[in-house]
Amino acid sequence: MNISILGIPMDLGAGRRGVDMGPSALRNAHLSRALRDLGHSVTDLGDVRVALPESIDKHEEGGLVFLDPILDACRAAAEQVAALPEGTFPLTLGGDHSVSMGTVTGNALRGNPAGERMGLIWVDAHTDYNTPHSSPSGNIHGMPVAALTGRGDPRLTGLGGDWHMRPEDIVMIGIRSVDTFERDLLREAGVKAYTMKDVDQLGMTRIHEETMERLGGLSRLHVSFDADALDPSVCPGVGTPVPGGLTYREGHLLMELLSESGRVTSMDIVEVNPILDTRNQTAEVMVGMAASLLGQRIL
Ligand code: ARG
Ligand code: MN
Ligand code: MN
Ligand code: MN
Repeated sequence: MNISILGIPMDLGAGRRGVDMGPSALRNAHLSRALRDLGHSVTDLGDVRVALPESIDKHEEGGLVFLDPILDACRAAAEQVAALPEGTFPLTLGGDHSVSMGTVTGNALRGNPAGERMGLIWVDAHTDYNTPHSSPSGNIHGMPVAALTGRGDPRLTGLGGDWHMRPEDIVMIGIRSVDTFERDLLREAGVKAYTMKDVDQLGMTRIHEETMERLGGLSRLHVSFDADALDPSVCPGVGTPVPGGLTYREGHLLMELLSESGRVTSMDIVEVNPILDTRNQTAEVMVGMAASLLGQRIL
């Protein structure tokens, strides 16, 4: 397979600094080599240009911190991803999770400027379904899924023009932190979320089966993997750690099963924060997750 790597070194959407170094940390953990060893042809497109927080003022617009520079970076990422040839697998590296407004939009618009239905598998401790009104923090990395489904500030929801994700095409896995008003929005929209309770009770195999069934008719599936979905003991280098997360094996099992399905067409790795990490452990774990999704097997 042809894999194109694109970094979006942005931490403007998060409350803590450092995820802008995520793409470097992942490259440093030998991402390209790991994928080449699996027989893929890998092109690293480098990074999207992102404004430095030091060179702009942290102005807040209607409860949205750093709105304009985030929109610029997301637009640039969406354009680059949308321009990739059909059949290429885009592997996009955050950055905080607001980058996924750009990457998901770019993938949905690839080969069809009007946009297509696409399945979204959101692996995360958080549902990231806030709007400027529901958000307790104003941090845009807590809003991308709501924005993709057309909820929230029109500047955030307008990245794909008239295209939006359908809530029924989204499955979330690993959820254990949802804000009060965010919960109401999520319920109302009808997004399927497998919480950690579901992971404990059903197991990852069953969750994978149900996910594949739910997203049955869709020819494109995007996996957006937030490192904080995994337990903080596995991935300590994240800005919003929540205890009680996916184990190392649950993460790999999900990636292995998705890989066997042969249906995943693009992936994000986001929220890797080397400043808060222990010897680049989080980036190394996430490179392993990408390798499992892209064909690595134990035997
Ligand atoms: N729900 C919280 C907020 O809106 C935390 C969001 C964390 N999101 C993330 N992508 N790590 O601020
Ligand atoms: Mn997230
Ligand atoms: Mn998260
Ligand atoms: Mn819109």
